[in-house]
Parts: sequence; structure tokens; C-alpha cells
Amino acid sequence: MNLANTNIPVIAIDGPSASGKGTVAQLVAQKLGFHYLDSGALYRIVAYAAQQKGIDWNDANVIAECAKRLTIAFAGEQVLLTTPDFAQKDISNEIRTETIGKGASQVAVHAPLRAALVEMQHAFCKPPGLVADGRDMGTVIFPDAPLKVFLTASTEVRAERRYQQLRNKNQPANYESILADLQERDARDKNRAAAPLIMAKDAILLETDHLSISDAVNTVLQNFQQKMYK
Ligand code: DC
Repeated sequence: MNLANTNIPVIAIDGPSASGKGTVAQLVAQKLGFHYLDSGALYRIVAYAAQQKGIDWNDANVIAECAKRLTIAFAGEQVLLTTPDFAQKDISNEIRTETIGKGASQVAVHAPLRAALVEMQHAFCKPPGLVADGRDMGTVIFPDAPLKVFLTASTEVRAERRYQQLRNKNQPANYESILADLQERDARDKNRAAAPLIMAKDAILLETDHLSISDAVNTVLQNFQQKMYK
């Protein structure tokens, strides 16, 4: 898919884990009636599928081959996976655990896997527009996006948010270990060679420690209007 020749607007929202980018991106997509890509879910799905098959998360080539055989569908909040080993399965909850989050960060370092997922991500770019969230949306996957946002918050605030999310879902949660995991994932996501988490040069920075979700959404929408109708 040659995205350079399309005029489909893309809003790329990147940032570290638990920065609130998923929530903000979904709300912006809803307000604009745009499609939504949760690219982190793709890495989570691959980590889950590999785990099911007993594949080592460090095995770059086997992981990439495994990813190519997956059929992934998103239906609203539902994440549906079909593999050569099982018929369609709803894995929405399975991919949201801390273990799979950690696995996603581990498989995401592999360049062959990242390459295998590019086309799948481009396929989300359909009229009337797309809001894409992840780590490399503005730098690698949609470098021509008219609006790029880098959404971040301090590690402590993000750990507290993740802790509350898990508590609300009645999942086991320990603040100290969440904080340590986030620090480990941040370091891996930022320091890897393939598409590391960095702010695109032309992105706007949104610090959300003291910014409500609705203020973050409105800021993104205002910036988008300015970019599109300047
Ligand atoms: O956004 P998330 O927590 O669901 O992402 C899980 C992991 O996937 C994250 O630690 C790094 C990886 N990821 C990535 O490398 N590139 C993306 N575009 C999205 C996620």
C-alpha cells in the first residue's frame, strides 16, 4: 500500500506504556468518526500466540514467521485471533495481562517481526481517516501523518494508573512491581535498535501528569483542526 499517494488524514499518537495514549486515541477517533489502530495490541497478540505455541520470545525469526500465520480481527473492543492451530478465539482479556505486556515489549525488539507487521498496520488507513497509537506511528509507520503527538507522563503517575486499571478489573496488582516493570519496558522500548520509542521531530508533546483525559483529547482535536485547515 503506497500511503504517500493517499490523502487520508492520520493522527499518530506515540508514547510509553500507560501514558493514556490508548484512551485519548480512541476518544479522538470517536469524535472524528475515524478508524482506530491499537498497534500495541498487535505485538501483544504475537506474544500471546508465541506463548501458546511454546515459542521463545527471543527467537526473532520464528516469532516473525509465527506472526505471518495469524489472522487478526478487531470488532469494537474485541480482539479476535485465528491461527493454524485454532479457530477464531476472543483473546481480548488474555492479551491485557502484565505478562503478555512484558512479552509484547520483548517480541517488539525484533526487526523481522516489525517488518512483518507494517502492511497490516497500513491497512488500517482508510477513509475518512485514522488515529493510530503506539511507539513508532509518527516515526516509522505513518511518517507523513499531518498530526503527530507524543503523549507522556512520569513513571510514577503511569504506574499508579496501571495499578488502578488492574484493581478495577479485579486482577492482581502490586504498585512496586508495576513500577519496576514499567521502568524495564521503557528502557527496552527506548533503547532497541529497531524503531525505538522516540518523539518524532515534528510531534507535539503532551505531558499528562496534570492534564485530564478530556483536556488531552481537546488539545489533540484543536491541533488537528489547525493542521488541516490552516
Ligand atoms: O501500548 P502497549 O502497552 O499495548 O504495547 C505493548 C508493547 O508493544 C510495548 O511495550 C512495545 C510494543 N510496541 C511497539 O514496539 N511498537 C508499537 N507501535 C506498539 C507497541
